[in-house]
Amino acid sequence: MVKTLVTGANRGIGYQTALQLSLAGNEVIISARTENSLADALDSLKNDGADASKLDGVVINLNDSISIEDAGKYIAKNHADLTNLINNAGIAGDMEKAPLDTSVEELKATIEVNVYGTFQVIKAMLPVIEKTMVKLLTLVPETNRLFGITQQPIEFQKSP
Ligand SMILES: NC(=O)c1ccc[n+]([C@@H]2O[C@H](COP(=O)([O-])OP(=O)(O)OC[C@H]3O[C@@H](n4cnc5c(N)ncnc54)[C@H](OP(=O)(O)O)[C@@H]3O)[C@@H](O)[C@H]2O)c1
Repeated sequence: MVKTLVTGANRGIGYQTALQLSLAGNEVIISARTENSLADALDSLKNDGADASKLDGVVINLNDSISIEDAGKYIAKNHADLTNLINNAGIAGDMEKAPLDTSVEELKATIEVNVYGTFQVIKAMLPVIEKTMVKLLTLVPETNRLFGITQQPIEFQKSP
Protein backbone atom coordinates (compact mmCIF):
# COMPACT_ATOMS: atom_id res chain seq x y z
CA MET A 1 0.00 0.00 0.00
CA VAL A 2 1.31 3.41 -0.97
CA LYS A 3 0.91 6.05 1.73
CA THR A 4 2.19 9.52 0.87
CA LEU A 5 2.67 12.69 2.89
CA VAL A 6 2.41 15.76 0.65
CA THR A 7 3.50 18.98 2.35
CA GLY A 8 1.94 22.33 1.40
CA ALA A 9 -1.03 20.56 -0.12
CA ASN A 10 -3.67 23.23 0.51
CA ARG A 11 -3.12 24.73 -2.96
CA GLY A 12 -1.07 24.62 -6.15
CA ILE A 13 1.03 21.64 -7.16
CA GLY A 14 0.72 20.08 -3.69
CA TYR A 15 -3.08 20.10 -3.77
CA GLN A 16 -3.21 18.58 -7.26
CA THR A 17 -0.61 15.95 -6.32
CA ALA A 18 -2.63 14.95 -3.24
CA LEU A 19 -5.86 14.89 -5.25
CA GLN A 20 -4.46 12.76 -8.09
CA LEU A 21 -2.88 10.30 -5.61
CA SER A 22 -6.21 10.08 -3.76
CA LEU A 23 -8.27 9.60 -6.92
CA ALA A 24 -5.90 6.76 -7.89
CA GLY A 25 -6.85 4.98 -4.63
CA ASN A 26 -3.79 5.76 -2.51
CA GLU A 27 -3.68 6.74 1.15
CA VAL A 28 -2.68 10.39 1.42
CA ILE A 29 -1.72 12.64 4.31
CA ILE A 30 -1.62 16.33 3.52
CA SER A 31 0.00 19.14 5.44
CA ALA A 32 -0.89 22.80 5.51
CA ARG A 33 0.53 25.74 7.43
CA THR A 34 -2.50 26.37 9.71
CA GLU A 35 -5.40 24.37 11.19
CA ASN A 36 -7.85 26.45 9.11
CA SER A 37 -6.09 25.96 5.78
CA LEU A 38 -5.70 22.25 6.59
CA ALA A 39 -9.42 21.84 7.33
CA ASP A 40 -10.37 23.76 4.15
CA ALA A 41 -8.01 21.63 2.03
CA LEU A 42 -9.35 18.36 3.47
CA ASP A 43 -12.92 19.53 2.72
CA SER A 44 -11.96 20.50 -0.84
CA LEU A 45 -10.23 17.17 -1.48
CA LYS A 46 -13.34 15.29 -0.29
CA ASN A 47 -15.57 17.52 -2.46
CA ASP A 48 -13.28 16.79 -5.42
CA GLY A 49 -13.74 13.03 -4.94
CA ALA A 50 -10.99 11.93 -2.52
CA ASP A 51 -11.91 8.95 -0.31
CA ALA A 52 -12.23 10.39 3.22
CA SER A 53 -11.29 7.04 4.78
CA LYS A 54 -7.86 7.21 3.09
CA LEU A 55 -7.21 10.86 3.87
CA ASP A 56 -5.59 12.54 6.87
CA GLY A 57 -3.91 15.85 7.61
CA VAL A 58 -1.33 17.45 9.84
CA VAL A 59 -0.20 21.04 10.35
CA ILE A 60 3.35 21.81 9.21
CA ASN A 61 4.61 25.39 9.28
CA LEU A 62 8.11 25.44 7.82
CA ASN A 63 8.87 28.59 9.85
CA ASP A 64 7.99 26.84 13.10
CA SER A 65 10.31 24.08 14.36
CA ILE A 66 7.82 22.98 17.01
CA SER A 67 5.07 22.39 14.43
CA ILE A 68 7.55 20.32 12.38
CA GLU A 69 8.60 18.25 15.40
CA ASP A 70 4.95 17.75 16.43
CA ALA A 71 4.14 16.59 12.89
CA GLY A 72 6.99 14.07 13.05
CA LYS A 73 5.57 12.67 16.30
CA TYR A 74 2.06 12.55 14.82
CA ILE A 75 3.26 10.65 11.74
CA ALA A 76 5.31 8.21 13.86
CA LYS A 77 2.29 7.51 16.06
CA ASN A 78 -0.43 7.36 13.41
CA HIS A 79 1.28 6.64 10.08
CA ALA A 80 4.36 4.55 10.82
CA ASP A 81 3.71 2.79 7.49
CA LEU A 82 4.35 5.96 5.46
CA THR A 83 5.99 5.04 2.15
CA ASN A 84 6.44 8.35 0.33
CA LEU A 85 7.32 11.88 1.43
CA ILE A 86 6.79 14.70 -1.07
CA ASN A 87 8.45 17.91 0.13
CA ASN A 88 6.32 20.32 -1.85
CA ALA A 89 5.76 23.17 0.63
CA GLY A 90 7.98 26.09 -0.09
CA ILE A 91 8.30 29.58 -1.46
CA ALA A 92 8.15 29.41 -5.25
CA GLY A 93 9.11 33.09 -5.51
CA ASP A 94 8.53 35.45 -8.40
CA MET A 95 9.86 33.56 -11.41
CA GLU A 96 9.50 36.65 -13.63
CA LYS A 97 12.03 38.50 -11.50
CA ALA A 98 15.69 38.68 -12.55
CA PRO A 99 17.87 36.97 -9.90
CA LEU A 100 19.73 40.16 -8.93
CA ASP A 101 16.42 42.02 -8.40
CA THR A 102 15.81 39.73 -5.41
CA SER A 103 16.38 41.49 -2.10
CA VAL A 104 18.56 39.95 0.61
CA GLU A 105 15.47 39.82 2.86
CA GLU A 106 13.54 37.81 0.24
CA LEU A 107 16.49 35.47 -0.21
CA LYS A 108 16.84 34.93 3.55
CA ALA A 109 13.10 34.25 3.93
CA THR A 110 13.19 31.77 1.05
CA ILE A 111 16.25 29.92 2.37
CA GLU A 112 14.68 29.81 5.85
CA VAL A 113 11.63 28.00 4.46
CA ASN A 114 12.92 26.01 1.48
CA VAL A 115 16.22 24.88 2.97
CA TYR A 116 16.09 24.92 6.78
CA GLY A 117 12.36 24.13 6.96
CA THR A 118 12.54 21.29 4.44
CA PHE A 119 15.68 19.90 6.13
CA GLN A 120 13.83 19.87 9.46
CA VAL A 121 10.86 18.04 7.92
CA ILE A 122 13.18 15.32 6.58
CA LYS A 123 14.84 15.01 10.01
CA ALA A 124 11.48 14.93 11.83
CA MET A 125 10.28 12.09 9.58
CA LEU A 126 13.52 10.08 9.94
CA PRO A 127 12.22 7.71 12.65
CA VAL A 128 9.57 6.56 10.15
CA ILE A 129 11.68 6.91 7.01
CA GLU A 130 14.40 4.69 8.47
CA LYS A 131 11.95 1.87 9.21
CA THR A 132 9.95 1.91 6.00
CA MET A 133 10.96 1.92 2.36
CA VAL A 134 10.42 5.61 1.70
CA LYS A 135 10.65 7.51 -1.54
CA LEU A 136 11.55 11.10 -0.88
CA LEU A 137 10.74 13.72 -3.48
CA THR A 138 11.61 17.37 -2.97
CA LEU A 139 10.05 19.96 -5.25
CA VAL A 140 11.74 23.07 -3.94
CA PRO A 141 14.00 24.91 -6.39
CA GLU A 142 17.31 23.69 -7.72
CA THR A 143 19.18 26.17 -5.50
CA ASN A 144 18.55 23.71 -2.67
CA ARG A 145 21.15 21.43 -4.26
CA LEU A 146 23.74 23.81 -2.84
CA PHE A 147 22.59 22.64 0.58
CA GLY A 148 22.42 18.94 -0.24
CA ILE A 149 18.65 18.86 -0.81
CA THR A 150 18.00 17.47 -4.26
CA GLN A 151 14.91 17.28 -6.47
CA GLN A 152 15.89 13.75 -7.53
CA PRO A 153 13.81 11.09 -5.78
CA ILE A 154 15.79 9.45 -2.98
CA GLU A 155 15.03 5.91 -1.90
CA PHE A 156 15.73 5.03 1.70
CA GLN A 157 16.47 1.37 2.31
CA LYS A 158 14.68 -0.36 5.17
CA SER A 159 16.99 -0.63 8.15
CA PRO A 160 17.60 -4.26 9.17
N1 LIG B 1 5.38 26.34 -9.98
C1 LIG B 1 6.58 26.08 -10.52
O1 LIG B 1 6.83 26.27 -11.73
C2 LIG B 1 7.70 25.51 -9.66
C3 LIG B 1 8.95 25.30 -10.23
C4 LIG B 1 9.99 24.74 -9.44
C5 LIG B 1 9.73 24.43 -8.12
N2 LIG B 1 8.49 24.68 -7.59
C6 LIG B 1 8.30 24.34 -6.18
O2 LIG B 1 7.15 23.48 -6.07
C7 LIG B 1 6.48 23.77 -4.86
C8 LIG B 1 5.01 24.09 -5.14
O3 LIG B 1 4.91 25.13 -6.11
P1 LIG B 1 3.52 25.86 -6.36
O4 LIG B 1 3.65 26.58 -7.66
O5 LIG B 1 2.38 24.90 -6.18
O6 LIG B 1 3.55 26.94 -5.17
P2 LIG B 1 2.34 27.68 -4.42
O7 LIG B 1 1.07 27.63 -5.19
O8 LIG B 1 2.91 29.03 -4.02
O9 LIG B 1 2.12 26.78 -3.08
C9 LIG B 1 3.13 26.72 -2.13
C10 LIG B 1 2.68 25.82 -1.00
O10 LIG B 1 3.72 25.84 -0.01
C11 LIG B 1 3.16 26.31 1.22
N3 LIG B 1 4.09 27.07 2.03
C12 LIG B 1 4.78 28.19 1.69
N4 LIG B 1 5.49 28.62 2.76
C13 LIG B 1 5.23 27.76 3.78
C14 LIG B 1 5.64 27.67 5.13
N5 LIG B 1 6.46 28.58 5.69
N6 LIG B 1 5.18 26.65 5.88
C15 LIG B 1 4.34 25.73 5.36
N7 LIG B 1 3.90 25.75 4.10
C16 LIG B 1 4.34 26.76 3.31
C17 LIG B 1 1.98 27.18 0.83
O11 LIG B 1 1.12 27.33 1.96
P3 LIG B 1 0.25 28.67 2.18
O12 LIG B 1 -0.98 28.51 1.33
O13 LIG B 1 -0.04 28.66 3.64
O14 LIG B 1 1.09 29.83 1.74
C18 LIG B 1 1.40 26.34 -0.29
O15 LIG B 1 0.66 25.26 0.21
C19 LIG B 1 7.20 24.97 -4.20
O16 LIG B 1 8.10 24.46 -3.21
C20 LIG B 1 7.97 25.58 -5.35
O17 LIG B 1 9.16 26.22 -4.91
C21 LIG B 1 7.47 25.20 -8.32
